[in-house]
Amino acid sequence: MAVNEDGLNRREPLVLGIESSCDETGVGIVRGRKLLANVIASSMDEHARYGGVVPEVAARAHLEAMAPTIREAVTTAGIELDDIDAVAVANGPGLAGALMVGVGAAKALALALDKPIFAVNHLVGHVGADVLSPEGQLAYPQVALLVSGGHTSLLLVRDLTSDVELLGETVDDAAGEAFDKVARILGLPYPGGPQIDRAAADGDPKAIRFPRGLSQPKDMDAHRYDFSFSGLKTAVARWVEVRRDAGEPVPLADVAASFREAVVDVLVSKAIAACTDLGVPRLLLGGGVTANARLREVAAERCGAAGIELRVPEFSLCTDNGAMIAALGAELIMAGAAPSPLSFGADSTLPATEICVS
Ligand code: KG4
Ligand code: ZN
Repeated sequence: MAVNEDGLNRREPLVLGIESSCDETGVGIVRGRKLLANVIASSMDEHARYGGVVPEVAARAHLEAMAPTIREAVTTAGIELDDIDAVAVANGPGLAGALMVGVGAAKALALALDKPIFAVNHLVGHVGADVLSPEGQLAYPQVALLVSGGHTSLLLVRDLTSDVELLGETVDDAAGEAFDKVARILGLPYPGGPQIDRAAADGDPKAIRFPRGLSQPKDMDAHRYDFSFSGLKTAVARWVEVRRDAGEPVPLADVAASFREAVVDVLVSKAIAACTDLGVPRLLLGGGVTANARLREVAAERCGAAGIELRVPEFSLCTDNGAMIAALGAELIMAGAAPSPLSFGADSTLPATEICVS
């Protein structure tokens, strides 16, 4: 074992990662780039009747789930808590109260075990999930498109541990949030993404031409890599309202398919534009919306045509999880990064460029 002069095993560190930015309590354990455990407790069902994640409910659920989830991860990994070399925790971006639970638990663990702690960026963690991929990590530089209920971000990753640039992000709703809101308009339950995906399977994606946000020539200077989904959501709501007011039936499958097509078209077009403009022939997808069947299909088609290598991690590593946080922590340790001072806090608006608190 290569132990650095600071006493930290930097060769294949055993890292426990905690993620609590939204409604998943995730605890993962990795040894270097090897995944040992990825345990997730979700409070999604508790939010269903509100049609979206309720921050206070999520924070309370994290409090209840944290200790049992840590215990289960340790058991699954077949280790003793004392064996770990370091603790990693996502300290932002995300819901402040939810993040605080993970940060508090991680600090308590690090103090009790007398181990170093690494406070890492949740978004960069999504990119970090790829180091666990069996094919080996996608080469640098890479463009990453992160799409979930909480974020829609396009990143240029030159190096996971030292150089991440935010190319663009949503100016209003996140992509997953748009799926959830449109599902609600259509009378489908939360979470809306899988529901719309299912309803869209029998629909015609060209039936209705819904708007593609921030995709006009006039948007290309200031918002080339930014996203906007609230206009699309309003357009769907109005289209449905007009039919309902006229007493006409709403063709659910066609609306779902046309809406899904508009979201996917914008996501993939902007991601490919970034790859092409920057001369980066590698695209990584992450976040819960990557479960979307049409997104996977269109991304594969258009990346294939443009000569871009496409990577979509296994789904359990795409949604919020602790393994990606542990993986990013391990990468930082292997790259020689210093641990975070214990004074760090949760930062709900942490920018993607801040990879680790130092
Ligand atoms: O990454 P994730 O599990 O959690 C956070 O948002 O943090 O993503 C959940 C989001 C929800 O908005 C959900 O509707 C969306 O991902 N989603 C989908 C699909 N499955 C989940 N969106 C579109 N199509 C899907 N098949
Ligand atoms: Zn996330």
